[in-house]
Amino acid sequence: MNTAMSDMVRLNANENFYGCSPRAFQLLGEGMLQMKVHEYPGYPSLLEEKLAQKFRVGVKNIVIGAGSVRLIDGIVQTLVEADEEIIIFERSFIAYEQIVHAHRRKLVFAPQVHFTCEVQSVIPLINQKTKAIFIANPNNPTGTIITHLDLENLLKTVTENILVVIDEAYGEYVTDIFFPDSVSLQQKYPNLIILRSFSKIFGLAGLRVGYAIVNEQLAVALKKNRIPFFLNCFAEGAAIAALDDELFISDCIQKNKEQREFLFQNISKLGMKVIPTQANFLFVYFDDEEEKERLFKMLSKEKLLTCNLSIFGQDKSLRIGIGDDTVNKKIVDLISAFTRA
Ligand SMILES: Cc1ncc(COP(=O)(O)O)c(C=O)c1O
Repeated sequence: MNTAMSDMVRLNANENFYGCSPRAFQLLGEGMLQMKVHEYPGYPSLLEEKLAQKFRVGVKNIVIGAGSVRLIDGIVQTLVEADEEIIIFERSFIAYEQIVHAHRRKLVFAPQVHFTCEVQSVIPLINQKTKAIFIANPNNPTGTIITHLDLENLLKTVTENILVVIDEAYGEYVTDIFFPDSVSLQQKYPNLIILRSFSKIFGLAGLRVGYAIVNEQLAVALKKNRIPFFLNCFAEGAAIAALDDELFISDCIQKNKEQREFLFQNISKLGMKVIPTQANFLFVYFDDEEEKERLFKMLSKEKLLTCNLSIFGQDKSLRIGIGDDTVNKKIVDLISAFTRA
């Protein structure tokens, strides 16, 4: 990171505002001395076993990747043929597009309905060539969710050869009771692939760990696509420590819930157009590009780095990470001044 960036408050990459679990932090410090770095990691890894226990699935249903983006890459490369199609929503996680293009697969965009991913928009796009549907849930950048019922409806509608990939990178932040119990759906519908990440609430984005919960056959295919020994012992140790630190996780969920409500309510009251979110960021949209640029620059000048979605071709919108009380009050004050200017 350059020095100009180092004093900015990072509200642009949906990272955990509160850092990582103190237990993971300790492991990366003093705990490192006990690590047997001269040994290769073993398989199945302890992390695979831990995740299998947590979700009550078999260890063979867990596939770890160097970040969930690596698993997305593996799915596209291994499970989708060159002449097959992948459906994603417009205004969703930019890496889907980048990875699909990198592998020269065909992408089909489903429209959103008022910034929300509705499964009804996907169904008419399905044809003989469709091989996979990727849905970020909550969606990045809009923060909206599809419900258990909607996901199950989609799974009932598509044939078994079509993979439904539900990307729950922000799943731990969700407090809406209608959020899918995707593990139970996965047991019923073997074409459902669940993706999760240690980069968000677990605060380990720099260590690159993500995982998939899949049926055994798909797990075998995805594991063949991996590079041997990709999971280093620090990343694995920190991920296990973070997973065990339930106190840190529940604290982050609670703070994020309170703060996103605070930010949403107060920014809405000021007349800004915001979408209710279940994630750790908020989507703000504008009538014109110039107004958005002005707010982005004003926040940046005050050292608040938000995500100007123009960089992803999603103009007229900003994504603002949810900070703590101090940061969010500052955002509200600045937006209040902005709306009065
Ligand atoms: C929806 C979604 N999935 C996956 C990721 C990336 O996760 P990872 O760091 O595990 O590759 C992100 C990162 O922003 C994301 O927004």
